[in-house]
Amino acid sequence: MKTTRDDLAEYRRRHVPLYNGNRLKLGLFAMNCSNGMIISKAATSQRIEWDYQLGLAQKADALGMEVFLPVARWQGSGGEIDYMGTNYETHTYAAAMAASTSNIMTFATVHAPIIHPIVAAKMATTIDHISGGRFGMNVVMGWLTPEFAMFGLAQRDHEARYDYGSEWMDIIDRLWTESEPFDHVGTFHRLTAAQSKPKPIQPRPVVFNAGSSPTGARWAARHADFNFTSFGTVEDAQAYSTSIRATAREEFGRELGVLTFAVVICRDTEAEAQAVLDGILDDADWVAAENWMSTLGLESHSFDAHMFGEMKRKFIAGAGAARIVGTPEQVVEQLKDISDAGMDGVMLGFLNWQEELDYFGERVMPLLKEAGLRG
Ligand SMILES: Cc1cc2nc3c(=O)[nH]c(=O)nc-3n(C[C@H](O)[C@H](O)[C@H](O)COP(=O)(O)O)c2cc1C
Repeated sequence: MKTTRDDLAEYRRRHVPLYNGNRLKLGLFAMNCSNGMIISKAATSQRIEWDYQLGLAQKADALGMEVFLPVARWQGSGGEIDYMGTNYETHTYAAAMAASTSNIMTFATVHAPIIHPIVAAKMATTIDHISGGRFGMNVVMGWLTPEFAMFGLAQRDHEARYDYGSEWMDIIDRLWTESEPFDHVGTFHRLTAAQSKPKPIQPRPVVFNAGSSPTGARWAARHADFNFTSFGTVEDAQAYSTSIRATAREEFGRELGVLTFAVVICRDTEAEAQAVLDGILDDADWVAAENWMSTLGLESHSFDAHMFGEMKRKFIAGAGAARIVGTPEQVVEQLKDISDAGMDGVMLGFLNWQEELDYFGERVMPLLKEAGLRG
């Protein structure tokens, strides 16, 4: 029997953490890549080692967070720290995290042009089963050309990447839902008797996409369940989320969520938090930041409008994300502003992940409840 949109929505409200009643969803982002969102030589406790990473997933799970989202990188951005250059592959990571957690959704980030849709559909289904229906797929159309060169692949031009992505995602949706083998002759793929059994536990695993160019945002409106975006001011965030949700609803009859990401530096006093930020900026790895920004500037439309007018400093502590600095009360105020701007959730990053996540759990989570942002 075919799942209708209403059935899917009802299933998700009952079973899928990202559709629970919390007004502000929370997660961790980029923890699987060295230096996470902080392009600085500042000392960090972060380790790309299994025990450290597993500890993060289990702490986030115990705190009731909804999302555990790794970044897919294949090489770093150079500089002294080789920013993000040490990293775990995201499907194997999500699978293992799924087996070791209870409620949090474990995501993989998949490069559509690199991973064949039959393989991607099957890996997603497998992790959905391992997790008991808590898997999410963050779909990326291609991003950093040097990474593609590693595979001997040339990136398609920007528009064609999303055409490719539409065909890729349509194939996956068929593999996830159709009981009979099917042939497919498209622009990019020819498949004979394509099939995939078993089916995922969720009627459709949750799909993220971080495109924010006009074409990228349209792709997200058509295929994704959540768009994942950076923003300049809260007014920009409001305008962006209103517009992309309207596109999804009016053109594709779909409900789209919108999420963003932020680096949090939270300490007992504002002065202490500010001192940590100053330390990060003083020890900036400018070469890595410039490498990363120039690859983004050349190859992405997501950041240029609001980012390149701003100082590189924003990239040092945040890598393009919002920056939330202050006492627990101030952090809650800033998270509330983001929520009021129409964001459904914020994916967080820290300097010293384990310690700061513990502190966030003890000091910030209770205040988020008091503020009505979380139950
Ligand atoms: C928050 C965020 C996370 C992203 N994560 C990844 C990633 O893990 N791997 C990757 O190759 N690209 C990643 N991207 C790149 C996007 O998928 C997309 O290619 C980029 O933002 C360009 O979007 P556009 O095509 O709409 O200009 C990310 C982008 C953003 C804003």
